[in-house]
Amino acid sequence: MSTDTSDLPSSKLGTKSHWDDVYANELSNFEEIGDEGEIWFGEDSIEKMVEWVQDYIPISPTPSILEIGSGNGTLLFAISQAGYDPTHIFGVDYSEDAIKLSRSIGVTRGEGSELIRFEVCDFLQDVPRGEDGQEEWDLVLDKGTFDAMALAEKDEHGRSPADGYPSRVGKVVKREGFFLIVSCNFTEDELKEKFANSETGLEYHSNIKFPSFAFGGHSGNVYSSIALRKP
Ligand SMILES: C[S@@+](CC[C@H](N)C(=O)[O-])C[C@H]1O[C@@H](n2cnc3c(N)ncnc32)[C@H](O)[C@@H]1O
Repeated sequence: MSTDTSDLPSSKLGTKSHWDDVYANELSNFEEIGDEGEIWFGEDSIEKMVEWVQDYIPISPTPSILEIGSGNGTLLFAISQAGYDPTHIFGVDYSEDAIKLSRSIGVTRGEGSELIRFEVCDFLQDVPRGEDGQEEWDLVLDKGTFDAMALAEKDEHGRSPADGYPSRVGKVVKREGFFLIVSCNFTEDELKEKFANSETGLEYHSNIKFPSFAFGGHSGNVYSSIALRKP
């Protein structure tokens, strides 16, 4: 049975005030002791996502890269360190302190990380725009953001704000571009059902395998990840 975004019980992880508190705290820690904050899904997820990017996205011609819900920016810093042009890398998040934090980390890290652009944007309300006004990217990334959105409060008809997410994602992926998502709330099949359809214009391309667990005769993955392509 597939998990509908409306089936998930709402939780504080689906509220902006939760993420504002998280990043206010991470920002003050960074300013006080230089701690860059939590690596959501762990180092392993960053390594695996960067490996996927290196396998499928050529460094030249320079690809444009967007992360939706970029948090402290760790994934984008890793992609830039892998050789991708930081001036074409863009992170958006609806929490202002997340943006302040990622900008500060970029400046402190230097070596090009300071050239990555981070801007406040509520992706469910607004369209992220590149410096030259662009609205489509060669590669769009989501690490835990759809998961957070799917835990938001439903409206009086039981609809989740996250229901509109897949079609918004479809609009910001360029033709022949990719969308790569890692999730802890949805299985691979559920991600395929939500993102690979005529509404998004995306097709399933590949997956990233994460370690699996076995419990009570059932097995599954801790995280799921698929990549989709716009033909
Ligand atoms: C689980 S965290 C992951 C952060 C980051 N991707 C990482 O891996 O560290 C989810 C992120 O999504 C952001 N977020 C949630 N809803 C959003 C929305 N509607 N628009 C933009 N960002 C959003 C939160 O502020 C938070 O930074």
